[in-house]
Amino acid sequence: MNHRGPSAAFLALVVAACAAPATEAPAAPFARMPEAWPFAATAPPAIAASAMVVTDAPLATDVGTEILRAGGNAIDAAVAVAFALAVVYPEAGNIGGGGFIVAHMADGTDAALDFREMAPLAATRDMYLDEAGNPTSLSVTGHLAAGVPGAVMGLWQAHQRFGTRPWPELLAPAIHLARDGFIADARFQEVIADEAERLARFEASAALFLPGGQPVRAGTTWRNPDLAAVLERIAERGPDGFYRGETADLIVAEMRRGNGIISHEDLASYEAKWRDPVVFDYRGQRVISMPPPSSGGLTLALIANILEGYEGDEAGWHQPEHLHRTAEAMRRAFADRNAVLGDPDFADVPAARFTSEAYADSLRATIDPARATPSESIRPATAEVESSESDHTTHFSIVDATGNAVALTTTINNLYGAAVTVTGAGFLLNDEMDDFTAKVGAPNMFGLVQGAANAIEPRKRMLSAMTPTIVLDRTGAPLLVTGARGGPRIITAVLQVMSNVIDHGMPLERAVHAPRIHHQHLPDVLYFEEGGLLPADSAALEAMGHSVRPRDGVGNAPAILRSGGRWVGVPDPRVGGKAGGY
Ligand code: DON
Repeated sequence: MNHRGPSAAFLALVVAACAAPATEAPAAPFARMPEAWPFAATAPPAIAASAMVVTDAPLATDVGTEILRAGGNAIDAAVAVAFALAVVYPEAGNIGGGGFIVAHMADGTDAALDFREMAPLAATRDMYLDEAGNPTSLSVTGHLAAGVPGAVMGLWQAHQRFGTRPWPELLAPAIHLARDGFIADARFQEVIADEAERLARFEASAALFLPGGQPVRAGTTWRNPDLAAVLERIAERGPDGFYRGETADLIVAEMRRGNGIISHEDLASYEAKWRDPVVFDYRGQRVISMPPPSSGGLTLALIANILEGYEGDEAGWHQPEHLHRTAEAMRRAFADRNAVLGDPDFADVPAARFTSEAYADSLRATIDPARATPSESIRPATAEVESSESDHTTHFSIVDATGNAVALTTTINNLYGAAVTVTGAGFLLNDEMDDFTAKVGAPNMFGLVQGAANAIEPRKRMLSAMTPTIVLDRTGAPLLVTGARGGPRIITAVLQVMSNVIDHGMPLERAVHAPRIHHQHLPDVLYFEEGGLLPADSAALEAMGHSVRPRDGVGNAPAILRSGGRWVGVPDPRVGGKAGGY
């Protein structure tokens, strides 16, 4: 068995954390970092005694910390932050999408809430194939790309079970931001500009994001009164304010405008589901993560269990040997993930295999320490396609003063989802249908080549990679709370943040800022973040048979760590954001 105690590096960190400020760290773990790596000069993390919120958007972080200061718990804060993100961070925050919550409550309860979108009742297995049987772009842009949104029901159910503050109180900050507006910053303008061509194709999106034909200008006040009205209905009527009545009418009317298929029946019957979290041990720490229909927790567990059989820092952070092992573990876990995972309500998902240490041992035994294993020899290769998408999901992490922890990842998939704004309602629809297998063997937007377990069926949830994750220390208290955006790179980003802390003894800001790698079985490519790999190490990996290529960002992982008796909060500099606490 490969169950081992914490690594020497982790124990050294714990000892150091008791005596020294959380920001001090041994320099050694970063010895392999290229001088040009842009996040090498770490900004100091936020440190707080009682509670912490880290999100991709400063205004949303402020909403969360206000709710906590006013006596709300971590779930209350998460609900308020999620609605605030739907206003101030429309490229990813949403009420037109879905996501997952992993929570560890102070009473010891672990919970996982699935509010993933569902395929509409009228969806069919081959709905995105053309006459020649090839996938089209209809799963990415336009009305047909949208799954039935789950966000509002998910936030409602999380609040029903664990919330303590009145529901309308948690929507009030978002309503205020939507109605009275906020000052757009340079990033707000830039991200719209990046997607202007897609947004311009849909009238309501153009009106909202491209006033006068130009992206919303930085420095101007941006208001969204239609969204404020929808949020007010949700504040008054709960999920019925979204899934029934006027908002539902507006969604269905929008569908008619663009050949979409979401119906009143789809909306009225949407349900979020509590699921048993994925739980596994990593070097003495207990890890709690998201089960299917996300592949995140199971794939994370399998990679971690393969790596656990190696001494944590014996190869040294980002030495070629360390990179090789990590990539080989990722390759093997993704081969299984891509082939067999899907919505457990529809497909027979072999979950136990992914958390089995014996299975991880068997996969580890196939890793040649000196040679890359061609992906074709693990599964038949059917395609070699690069992913071309940009990262647009959003994760946030919250801990409160009583010991509750929440990791929430939410998405509309692509940047601005399907690019379709519901006319009169001010929110974007997701393009989550692209996460299904449109055709077995054909890659999706993320280059993922997936199997029949993830084929489209009415009311089925598309397989996700979102990995909201909480690591508990030996006393059972939250140690690390994280998750990421980035499609399949979510899983590998979370793994590397966790490993950087536990295996390599990095303080949190370094663990988050450090350059990352990614392998997802197909394409058979070992990606590294541009500027994040020494040329000599790249050459060493190529010599081992890896096809090594640069790419922009491997995930964006805002995180919180308990260190030195305090909370350390770090937004990921790849996207920005803010950590705040008290
Ligand atoms: O659920 C998933 O795995 C994806 N829809 C997440 C999308 C994402 O992270 C966007 N970024 N690339």
